[in-house]
Formats: sequence, structure tokens, C-alpha cells
Amino acid sequence: MNKIAAVVLAAGKGTRMKSDKAKVLHETCGRPLAFFPIRAALSLDCAPVVVVVGHQAQEVERQLGQLFPGAKFALQKEQLGTGHAVRSAEEALRGFSGSVLILAADVPLVRAETLQKLVQAREESGAQVALLTCRAREPKGYGRVIRNSKGEVARIVEEKDASPEEKKIDEVNASIYLCDSQFLFAALRSVARRNSQGEYYLTDIVAKGRAVAVEAEEAEVSGVNDRAQLAVSAAQLRARKNAQLMKDGVTLRDPSVTYVDEGIEIGPDSVLEPLVSLLGKTRVGRGVEIGQGCVIVDSEIADGARILPYSVFESAKVGPGAIVGPFARLRPGAQVGEQARVGNFVELKKTVLGKGSKANHLSYLGDAVIGEGCNVGAGTITCNYDGANKLQTIIEDGAFIGSDSQLVAPVKVGKGAYVGSGTTVREDVPPGALAVSAGKQRNIEGWVEKKAPRKASKR
Ligand code: UD1
Ligand code: CA
Repeated sequence: MNKIAAVVLAAGKGTRMKSDKAKVLHETCGRPLAFFPIRAALSLDCAPVVVVVGHQAQEVERQLGQLFPGAKFALQKEQLGTGHAVRSAEEALRGFSGSVLILAADVPLVRAETLQKLVQAREESGAQVALLTCRAREPKGYGRVIRNSKGEVARIVEEKDASPEEKKIDEVNASIYLCDSQFLFAALRSVARRNSQGEYYLTDIVAKGRAVAVEAEEAEVSGVNDRAQLAVSAAQLRARKNAQLMKDGVTLRDPSVTYVDEGIEIGPDSVLEPLVSLLGKTRVGRGVEIGQGCVIVDSEIADGARILPYSVFESAKVGPGAIVGPFARLRPGAQVGEQARVGNFVELKKTVLGKGSKANHLSYLGDAVIGEGCNVGAGTITCNYDGANKLQTIIEDGAFIGSDSQLVAPVKVGKGAYVGSGTTVREDVPPGALAVSAGKQRNIEGWVEKKAPRKASKR
């Protein structure tokens, strides 16, 4: 098989995004835009994959290098156009001979199957360049494909350089090419910048050799130049991701309003209700139910867990069969054990809630280790901060914390102990003991009749 190297053009600023951030780092489906073309190149076994960086080069290289440790980076110091960008990769490809796949980093929807067609087209035609094109409903902004009298691809003219006649052509250049490596760099050396933008256009190589076009669906080759196009491409990528999830046995109650980042895995027979967002490095097991409006970031949810509506998690773990929510908040380091229960308006931070334990209503549990089979009553608060340090609360297996109690850390409630309702626990409670802190209750007979405040009588 013919060897293929890839060059991904990611050095441009993306002026039309009107952003302080490089265009190729804008996120879609939880990944920077450039992730998708790089992944497509890798799925074709391209080696090496050279990413050309320039605008915010350091940051672009840092982020993409993390996602693709095997990628090479080439610096385009000045952004003098797409042709100049490919030339910047020449050094990184020294000694390579074969085909070079060139992808613009701002074309995220292209699929590996389509790139494969470029390989085929070059093999069959022997042309030096195979380029991806489409019939655009709105060709404005794209380079147009100009064909000769025999119907062969003759050249590409950019929107800004096109005559009114040429602008009427709806066959456009997708900015994805497969070229013979020797031809490519020789052709680029003779590309000039005599055009309305004063740039070295990569598109000019098309006129310098024999080129064939492979037509793709418009939706697959549309570029992202502004935020509206970013939203359109994000919706497409999301639709693909959601279709895959359903194929894998996940129920999406309404895929049009379900947001699952690229790379997230969900086990079969899980159900996502509308407006669920599963983001970052989240993992979801089998038979999990996630209720409407949940936002779950970088978290793990084990088999059979139920997450009730409007719960918000970040870097949390939920054990098998646990039930969390509605309106629960799990902050980083929250670990809800197997079959445990976290109810409404309960916040957990850096807290382990053991197997089968319950915290059902209105609580803040921070920096706590709670054993198995414990009951944490409504309104329980761990006072974990003394103004300088975060301190730990330990609640041992089977302990019962009465409602409206405060546990002033560092403090420990022993195995099977009881804390009476409304207790402020400042000292450790021994196993099996009952802790109460309120004074004895007094009732003053007849007080209401004699002393209760009354409304001033109307004058
Ligand atoms: C380019 C094509 C156009 C095609 C369109 C499809 C050229 C001259 N034009 O136009 O024919 O229809 O894509 O989307 O190639 N880049 C660099 N260095 C540079 C300039 C650009 O790395 O000096 C990168 C950008 O980061 C981007 C890609 O190349 O990822 C395309 O650049 P962009 O300026 O968006 O080109 P278009 O005007 O869209
Ligand atoms: Ca573009």
C-alpha cells in the first residue's frame, strides 16, 4: 500500500470568529475543532501527521499535543496563506515519499470513508492531486472549481479573485487534498502571491498538475469560519454521536436536545432524558437513568444508578444502584457508594458516602468519610472550614445523625452511634453512644395568653 502522510493546517487566526482564542481551539462536542480532521487522518493510518501551527502556536500545540501525543508540529511563523502553511511542513516531512493528505483544521465533519475515496481516485486516475469538492447551496466564500472544455479540473479561483461569471459556479473546494509528495512541494515553490489577498494559495497547485475531484456531501465538507458555522458543525457532530449511542443500545428520549461530548461511553439500556449534558471525561455504565436537565462533567456513574432531574456533578463517582437527586450537587471528590442515596438539595464535596448510606435532604457534606449503612438526617452540615484549613469529619458504619445537626470538624462519630436532632457535635462520639448538646427543654404554661406579643389595635 502507498504510504500517506498528513498535513493539517491550523495556523490561521480565524478572524471571522472575532475571538481572542485561535479558531482551531474553539470547541465543538467537547473537543477543539482541529481534533476532528486530525482524528480522520489518523483513522487512515497516516504517518506522520504534521500539524501546522502559527497563530497562538504554543497553546494550539499544547492542546493538540495532549490529545495526539504522536502528532508532529511545524511552525508557520507568519500566516502568508494556505500554500505557505503547507511549505512550513516540508521540513517535518523530509525523507518522506508517497502521498500527502492535506486537511484544513476548520473542516471538522469529514469522515474517514470520504478520505478513502481520495486515495482511490488517485490510484485509479494517476492524477497528482485528488481534491474533495461539493455542490454548495451557498457557494459564497469558497474557492470555485473551474473545469476546462473537457470537463477536467483546471484550477481553483478564490471568491475574492473570482469574476462574476466564476462566482456563479456552485462546485466548491473543500480544502482537503491528496497529493503526490514530490509534485506538491515542487508545485508550491512556484506558487506566487499575486492575488487580491497577497497570499500564497494552496489552491494554486491544482493548475500545476493533473487533478481529479471527488464530490462529497456539502454537510461533510462545510468549513467553520464563524460562530454560526461552528454551531452548525457542532449540531452535526452531536447528531452523529447520538446516532452512535442509540445504535449501541442507549435510549435518548429526545436526541435533538441531548448533549454528549465526543469520547464519552455509555452502557446499553441506559436512558438519557431531555436536556442532559454529559461532558468531558464522563463514563456511564449499563442500565443507568439520567433525568432531565442533569449536567455531568468528568464523572463516573456505575451500572444501574439513577440520577434524578436537575442534578449537577463534577469529578464525582456514583456507585452501582445508587440514587442521586433531584437537585443534588456532587462536587469534585464526591463518591456515592453502592445503593447509597443522595436526595434533594444535598451537596457533597470530597466526601465518601458508604454503601447503602443515605443523605436525603438539605445537607452539606464536605471533607467527610461516611461509612456503610449510615443515616444522615435532613439539614445536617459538616462544618469543615475553620477559616484557614479544611478539616475532616468521620462517621463510622451504621451511625445515625439526627436532623439539623452540625458536625464541627475535625470530629468522629463512632460505629453505630446516635446524634440527637439539633446537636452541635464538637467532640468525638464513642461507638454506640448518644450525643445531645441542647439544654433540657422548658415549657412555660399559659405563656401565650399572658405574654405573647399582640398586634397594636387599630386606632
Ligand atoms: C480555503 C480555500 C478555499 C476553500 C475553503 C474551504 C485557499 C486559498 N482557499 O479558504 O478554496 O473553498 O478553504 O473551507 O486555500 N491556514 C494556515 N495558515 C495560513 C492560512 C490558513 O494554517 O497562512 C489554515 C487555517 O488555520 C485554516 C485553513 O488553513 O484551518 C484554511 O484557511 P482559511 O483562511 O479558513 O481559508 P478559506 O478562506 O476558508
Ligand atoms: Ca476556512
